Amino acid sequence: MMDTIKNVEYGLEKIFEGAQDFLPLLGTDYIEFYVGNAKQSAHYYKTAFGFQSFAYKGLETGSKETTSYVLIQDKIRLVLTTPLNSNSPINQHLVKHGDGVKVVALWVEDARKSWEETTSRGAKSFMEPTVEQDEHGEVVRAGIHTYGDVVHIFVERKNYKGLFLPGFEKWESDYNPSNVGFKFVDHMVGNVGWGEMNQWVQWYEDVMGFVNFLSFDDKQIHTEYSALMSKVMSNGNGRIKFPINEPAEGNKKSQIEEYLDFYEGPGVQHIAVATDDIITTVKELRARGVEFLSAPPRAYYEEIPKRLGSHMEMMKEDIADLEKLAILVDADEEGYLLQIFTKPVVDRPTLFFEIIQRMGAKGFGAGNFKALFESIEREQERRGTL
Ligand code: FE2
Repeated sequence: MMDTIKNVEYGLEKIFEGAQDFLPLLGTDYIEFYVGNAKQSAHYYKTAFGFQSFAYKGLETGSKETTSYVLIQDKIRLVLTTPLNSNSPINQHLVKHGDGVKVVALWVEDARKSWEETTSRGAKSFMEPTVEQDEHGEVVRAGIHTYGDVVHIFVERKNYKGLFLPGFEKWESDYNPSNVGFKFVDHMVGNVGWGEMNQWVQWYEDVMGFVNFLSFDDKQIHTEYSALMSKVMSNGNGRIKFPINEPAEGNKKSQIEEYLDFYEGPGVQHIAVATDDIITTVKELRARGVEFLSAPPRAYYEEIPKRLGSHMEMMKEDIADLEKLAILVDADEEGYLLQIFTKPVVDRPTLFFEIIQRMGAKGFGAGNFKALFESIEREQERRGTL
C-alpha cells in the first residue's frame, strides 16, 4: 500500500503551488441534510453520534414552510431540514433521493465575490447573494450547483454575532447525550456517474480553483468483483478535500453503481469526521448502536507491523483493540492513519460516515481499499445488489 501512495501525485506543496486563490475558503461552515422527519433524525444524531443541540427554526420561530435543527460537535455543524407541507420543493428531493445531503456550505470572507468568481467561471447559480439580518448582525449567503442535486453555499459571517444564522433560535433541550470526540470534517466524498469523474475534477479546478492531489484508478481500487476510480480535489489551504468517485467495470456491480441506483443519481457518499482518539470514539459509537462494516480477516491485523514498517514505533494503539473494534490501519511516507466506516445511516444503501484519526498520514487509506470493499461486497451480497 505504501507503493500505491508513492505512485500517485502527492504532497501539500503541490496543493499550494497549483491551487488558485480566487476562492479563499476558511473551512466547512455546515452540512445540510434534507430528511423526511427532522425531529427524529436530530434525536438519532444526538443519541447515536453524540451531536449537541444547537439551534432551531420551525413554526414556533415563525418558519411556516420548513423545520430545521442544527446540531454541533466541536467544529462540525449539521443542519437537518424537513418540509412542513406538500408544496415544498424539498419533497421532490426526498421522493427521489430519500434522506441525503443537499448543502455543503463553505465559510468564506466574501460571499458575493465567491459567487461572482465561481459563476463567471461557469458555475450554475443556486442562490444569488442574499443578506439576512437580525439583532445580532448580518450574514451574506450565495450558492452554486455542483454534482447531482448537491449545492455549495458560501457563508460570510464576519458581521454576525448570533448563534448560527438569522431566523434560528437557540435550541434548548433537556436531553444532552455526551459527544463522542468528533473534531472536524476531514473530507466529504461525492459519487458521480459513469465517465463523469474527470468532468467534475475539471469543474473543481476551473470553477473553484481546486487541485487534484491524489488519484486512484480501477487497477488500484478493485477486488475480485468490483472496481471504482477516485480523484481527490483540495482547495489551496488543504482544509477542504472532496474526493470524487465514479464506478468502473468489474465482474459484478460496483458499490458506486449501487449508490447511483438507489440515490437515483450523483450525491454525497460519505462524510469523514476526524477524531484524536478513534478507539474511544468507536467504542462509544458501538455502545450507542452505530453499525460498522465488518472486520477484515485476522491476516489483515497480523500484517499490520509489516505494512506500517518504521511507523510501527510511533503507534500507540494496541492491534488487538483495533481488531476487536474492526478499525483499519494504513500508512504513507509521513505517518499512519486509523479509519473505520459505518454502514449506511439510511435504509437506501447510500450515505455513510467514516471516522478517521490521522497520525501524520495524509492519504485516504488506499491500503485498506481492498479489505474495505470486500466488506462492502459482503453487505451488497446480503442486499442482493452485487
Ligand atoms: Fe473517505
